[in-house]
Amino acid sequence: MPEFVGAVDQGTTSSRFMIFDHDGNEVARHQLEHAQILPRPGWVEHDPVEIWERTNNVMQNAVRTSGLDASDLAAIGITNQRETTVVWDPRTGRPYYNAIVWQDTRTDSIAAALERDGHGEVIRRKAGLPPATYFSGGKLKWLLENVDGLRQAAEQGHAVFGNTDSWVLWNLTGGPDGGVHATDVTNASRTMLMNLETLDWDDELLEIFGVPRAMLPRIHSSSHPEAFGRTRTSRPLRTAVPVTGVLGDQHAATVGQVCFLPGEAKNTYGTGNFLVLNTGTELVRSQHGLLTTVAYRFGDEPAVYALEGSIAVTGSAVQWLRDQLKIIKHAAESEWLARTVEDSGGIYFVPAFSGLFAPYWRSDARGAIVGLARYHTDGHLARAALEAICYQSRDVVDAMEQDSGVRLDVLKVDGGVTANDLCMQIQADVLGVPVSRPVVAETTALGAAYAAGLATGFWQDTDELRSHWQESKRWEPQWSEEQREEGYAGWRRAVERTLDWVKV
Ligand code: G3P
Repeated sequence: MPEFVGAVDQGTTSSRFMIFDHDGNEVARHQLEHAQILPRPGWVEHDPVEIWERTNNVMQNAVRTSGLDASDLAAIGITNQRETTVVWDPRTGRPYYNAIVWQDTRTDSIAAALERDGHGEVIRRKAGLPPATYFSGGKLKWLLENVDGLRQAAEQGHAVFGNTDSWVLWNLTGGPDGGVHATDVTNASRTMLMNLETLDWDDELLEIFGVPRAMLPRIHSSSHPEAFGRTRTSRPLRTAVPVTGVLGDQHAATVGQVCFLPGEAKNTYGTGNFLVLNTGTELVRSQHGLLTTVAYRFGDEPAVYALEGSIAVTGSAVQWLRDQLKIIKHAAESEWLARTVEDSGGIYFVPAFSGLFAPYWRSDARGAIVGLARYHTDGHLARAALEAICYQSRDVVDAMEQDSGVRLDVLKVDGGVTANDLCMQIQADVLGVPVSRPVVAETTALGAAYAAGLATGFWQDTDELRSHWQESKRWEPQWSEEQREEGYAGWRRAVERTLDWVKV
């Protein structure tokens, strides 16, 4: 009997493959970065062929270094950066264009026109999303309008769409030789094209975006024993392993953090931050700038919904200090640099590089550093970057509490930035609630493995998964109430300065 489950995590900056045992412990991992292609201000692309190559390599390497054989894997789950849009020719596997990444703002005029033409209300009601550059629908519309011959190819069945889950799945299950063109409800819920109630592509939404239905993947549950096929018997695994879980990375992290009950929430700190609150089988409409989304759907059970606060730039603000300003060599040095000062010296850094997402949804915003005096150093800037991660999370926690009436008594966190002890302490201080990190901080890959393993009976039920969760560290708030409110009021004033900066 195979004793392990594998998970592909195709993220914004890297792809990784992880292998877990029956207790949810990590057995192996391999990870490779891919290029961030930045052709113009606001444009962000990835090369889908590079992503597929990297995925191949990490799968091969993780299996090899673990000393296991692919036949030791009972199942594989796929999780992914959501919204990032790939269109390819199913006859050859050749992409028509680079993947347009979720952070890309080239569709700001498409989003503004949707609102101006009165489509905003129906998109909010049916898809649970505000018209914004973030989601796939506008990116697909842009491709259909800007890539020569693409619309005609799509109508003839020679161009198909997918987020990177579908792209990886299709390649992994055979590519042009019978690859499965499918996605799951969570990824589909980020396109502006799926109806949250029917969990199917919606004709009215397809009409608004001018998207031919023929190019879209089949939508399935996030955990399914057959719908996603098996890995092809050539590279990377040379073994037919069932793919039985597919879900967007934030949804996977929600599962990995075992947030299975209404009122349970997690915050993932990656390139961006994503706070997800389980609202049960009830569809809750946000009045405060959050998204309504599908949390997950297991097999034939009813879909579980969530409210989500998506923040575009958090960890990537630290990467900006590293790659563009070059004031640190590694992201982890941000903690050391920020500790060279007592506080941010009254400056605020609002990293609105892709406009502002939740709860503002302002594509006309651009980044700002405010309050500068000659006194300030790179240490203050590093500290302000960490504070920005935490203040943006406070914005969405406040919105979530207003929408749901649920007052958080602890914030469950995961993702790369949670290794930054200072940042997590600031998070507890800014929120005024404890912050708790689990032993397995790779909850995204773990959640994809859980979804895959539930479908095959490798794990029995969510109670079994819950028994794996263990806290590794907790940060308690230390600021006074006055300090907290003063700091946050300054943040809100700084955010005001970034609005209305570009014409859309
Ligand atoms: O919605 C975008 C999100 O899914 C990307 O997550 O972790 O790749 O930055 P991450």
